[in-house]
Order: sequence, then structure tokens, then C-alpha cells
Amino acid sequence: MKIIIDTDPGQDDALTILLALISPEIELLGVTTVAGNVSVRQATINALKTMDLVGVTTVPVHAGADRPLLRAPIDATHVHGRTGFEGVDLPDPAQKAAPEHAVDFIIRTVMDHVPGAITLCAIGPMTNLALAISREPALRTRIGRIVTMSGAFSEVGNITPTAEFNIYADPHAAAIVLESGIPITMIPLDVTHALHTSAARLARFEAIGNRVGKVVADWLRFEKTFEATKYGTDGGPLHDPNTVLWLLRPDLYKGREVNVRIETGSELTMGMSVVDWWGITNLPRNTLFLRECDAAAAYDLITERLSRF
Ligand code: BDR
Ligand code: CA
Repeated sequence: MKIIIDTDPGQDDALTILLALISPEIELLGVTTVAGNVSVRQATINALKTMDLVGVTTVPVHAGADRPLLRAPIDATHVHGRTGFEGVDLPDPAQKAAPEHAVDFIIRTVMDHVPGAITLCAIGPMTNLALAISREPALRTRIGRIVTMSGAFSEVGNITPTAEFNIYADPHAAAIVLESGIPITMIPLDVTHALHTSAARLARFEAIGNRVGKVVADWLRFEKTFEATKYGTDGGPLHDPNTVLWLLRPDLYKGREVNVRIETGSELTMGMSVVDWWGITNLPRNTLFLRECDAAAAYDLITERLSRF
């Protein structure tokens, strides 16, 4: 399957890119970057460093939006460190970003393919996607599916009491995407908070014995210092890689087709994903909203894929 990853790397974003690159079931057409965990400049450097790490020079990286549509920018350096890649400092990238803007790349690539051919993996704030859909409304029927790590139901929030980071960072963009009519798979905190990056699981990555396994283990060890401390778990959550894992093995996940809307009116609950789990409204079921994952099988799959490098 052909995919584009829209991202703000971030250690867990980088693992998502690596899983896509190494999986023969997936053809990664390009990576687009957006301001989120870190600035768009740093996110672009980090995406290029990820390509360098595994010697890939054929997948373009396109820089995108440097701030949310309406709100003031925020970041998540309190989770990912100042560079977004704290835990392992990779060398400056040898490659350069492609000159075309991320939004133009998304529009051109999707329009060059038959309707439904391309899946967008959205693992940062959805600013680029909202801009692309607004500029080229035909994307509403041309993008096959958007698979996004964002939102929450019973796990509620990780950046405010009621909001998940990717949505809170640009709630107006997320609202545009959710109202677009494009089929959406949403992988919320309910799933990611149940996939702990425990010491034993990270030790398995390291025991593969290749460089990528060691880098990923060290990255996730850093990322969990904030999150595991906060949640009191053995390891932190594993967020963004679930998008690619779901594409590879949807049978590992359980969820429901429901209506999801985004709060953009209230400062108190800004960015909340309002999930109609019980079908209280008659609103369109715009989202396959996942709630559960077979964590052991997911970690087996990551370990197996990392061992291919
Ligand atoms: C999301 O926010 C970022 O910090 C992670 O990379 C992930 O995309 C989790 O809320
Ligand atoms: Ca991310």
C-alpha cells in the first residue's frame, strides 16, 4: 500500500518512519513535516536524520506548516527533549529536504494517483492536512484513508485534562480533517497508554544486535522518563507506531465506527475529542475509533521488523 507520513519527529515518530521503510507491504512515497513536538525546522532535520540512520535516500522529506492555523504554537519538548531526539544524538543530516512545500507535495501526489490509492498517516498536529484539504477539495474523495494517532476517550488527555497533544496543538485543523468525509482511523491514548515501553520490551529491541535496535531502545528510554514517571507504569506509552502497525495487522486492534468531533469553542476543554461511543447522536460515523490492542503481538511485530535492518 502507498502511504505518506505527516509527522513532527519525535522519537516515536521516527520509529513509525522506520517501520514503514522496512515493511515490504508498504511503499512510503514521502514524509511531510509539521510543527508540533518541535519546530518544523527541527522536525525536518529529524526526519532527514532518520533516513540517514538507515541509508535511505529515495524517500523525499518535505517541510510544511510552521505553526497551527489559528492558535499560538506549543511544543512537547518536555516529553521528547530539546531536539525531539534526546536519548541518542544522531549526526547532522547528509541529505536535504525537497524544495516543494509539504502541502503542495500532498496535493500533487494524491491527485497523481487514482482515487483511494493513498493512505495518509498523520502522527503530528493536522495542520498540513487541513491546509491541503482546504486548498484542493478533491482530496476529500481522493485520499483513501487517514490513519491518525490522536485523541482520547477514557484516557481523556495528556496535554490538558481533556485533550491529547496532536489535537490540542491544532484543534481547528483536526476539526477540518474530521469533517472532511475522508475515512479515518483514529488511534487514541486509550490504545497507546496500554502499550508500555517496559524495560524488558526495550531490552528485546537492543538484543537484536543491530544499530537501529539500539537507537530505538535508547530513544524510547528517554521518552519514557517523562511519561512513565507521570503515569507510574513500567515504561511509557507507545504512540505513533500504532498507525503503521494497524496498517500491517488491523486484526491486532479493536474499535468501533463512531462519530468524533473536536472541541474548538471552549478554552477549558479545547481540543477534546468528543466520541459518540454509544451512538447517542445520529451524526455520521466518520471514524473507526480504536480502543484496544494486543500489546504482546504488537511488540513482537516491532521487534521482528527492527531485526530486518
Ligand atoms: C502524540 O504527541 C507527541 O508527543 C507524540 O509524538 C504523539 O504523536 C501523543 O500525544
Ligand atoms: Ca508525533
